[in-house]
Amino acid sequence: MDIIKALKESGLVGLGGAGFSTATKWQAVKDSCEKKRFVVCNLSEGEPGVFKDEFVIQRHLSKMISGIEIAAEFVNAQKSYIFLNDKYKYYQKKIEKNLKGKKIEVFIDNGRYLCGEETVMLQVMEGKTRQPRLKPPYPTNSGLFGYPTLINNAETFYRVKLIADGDYQPKRFYSLFGDYIPKKVVESDLSSTVEEIINSEKILSKIKFARIGGLSGCFLPRREFNKQITGTGSVEIFGKRRNVFNALCQSIIFLKNESCGKCTPCREGIYRIAEELNNISESKSLWDKEEIFSKIKSIAEAAKESSFCPLGASVANPVISAINLFPEDF
Ligand SMILES: Cc1cc2nc3c(=O)[nH]c(=O)nc-3n(C[C@H](O)[C@H](O)[C@H](O)COP(=O)(O)O)c2cc1C
Ligand code: SF4
Repeated sequence: MDIIKALKESGLVGLGGAGFSTATKWQAVKDSCEKKRFVVCNLSEGEPGVFKDEFVIQRHLSKMISGIEIAAEFVNAQKSYIFLNDKYKYYQKKIEKNLKGKKIEVFIDNGRYLCGEETVMLQVMEGKTRQPRLKPPYPTNSGLFGYPTLINNAETFYRVKLIADGDYQPKRFYSLFGDYIPKKVVESDLSSTVEEIINSEKILSKIKFARIGGLSGCFLPRREFNKQITGTGSVEIFGKRRNVFNALCQSIIFLKNESCGKCTPCREGIYRIAEELNNISESKSLWDKEEIFSKIKSIAEAAKESSFCPLGASVANPVISAINLFPEDF
């Protein structure tokens, strides 16, 4: 079968967050002049609140592995790797059992959030500093040890296999959890809204807001639950008595701890935002709060514009949405 034609027709985009065209990425590796090529399956999933790839290991492992093999055959890769977060180490035996006789190796790492970023992942696999590389060159041109490398998310490889088998429908997995809903993975249309994923009037009536896309994502009030879910496909819900301020502090502390320190807008910016959030909880007058809001927003905008990698840029998501949509919670 002509897999690249099938990928193009399906319109499949990567399901690791960035949403880049899978066919375009595969073709770029295939067209490289270098003879040596690699394939890497990203099973890092280090962001709290995102657990759909774990579900792929649990339920669809052999199809995911077939997807990797299809990719390796298409780009003519010498070797493929599964980059596995060590929080999923207990699946290692199961994965390796399924890899017998295949040219695919498991690479286990300590699971920090930033290691899921593709160039940091390559740095880790090469035994180098855990910091992102400048792009371009992209991994499709200069990836593992400088060779063209195709990197896709675990679910992307699973969907590739469905496409190859003629079983594909435009669906994806969503991680859903929070107040009133125990952790679960929902499979639904790519165009699904928050309301459709929650799919319960009873629960919806008790919700105040949601956090979309993990701790680095945006806050969304109940009135905007008709919006489509993008990015990593995670929905965390919060009941009527919850406060956005506390949830925002959780996001900021997480991003501050995960920042690698390479660039100033992220390293200093997130630290300053944390400091100002602390000032907000101590400030008494409305005037003080307005001033602090505008300071926090301008630091977040600066991090969005000038951070070296998307981790620093992402701080604007929780900050701007929380301040603009829920000022009364501060
Ligand atoms: C901070 C950060 C963390 C990331 N973590 C993951 C991850 O855990 N899994 C993943 O597939 N992609 C992750 N990505 C996206 C990868 O860099 C890359 O775009 C993706 O693996 C490509 O696969 P896809 O095209 O199939 O989505 C992360 C990106 C950033 C900036
Ligand atoms: S944005 Fe943050 S995580 Fe990314 S390179 Fe800069 S300091 Fe490191």
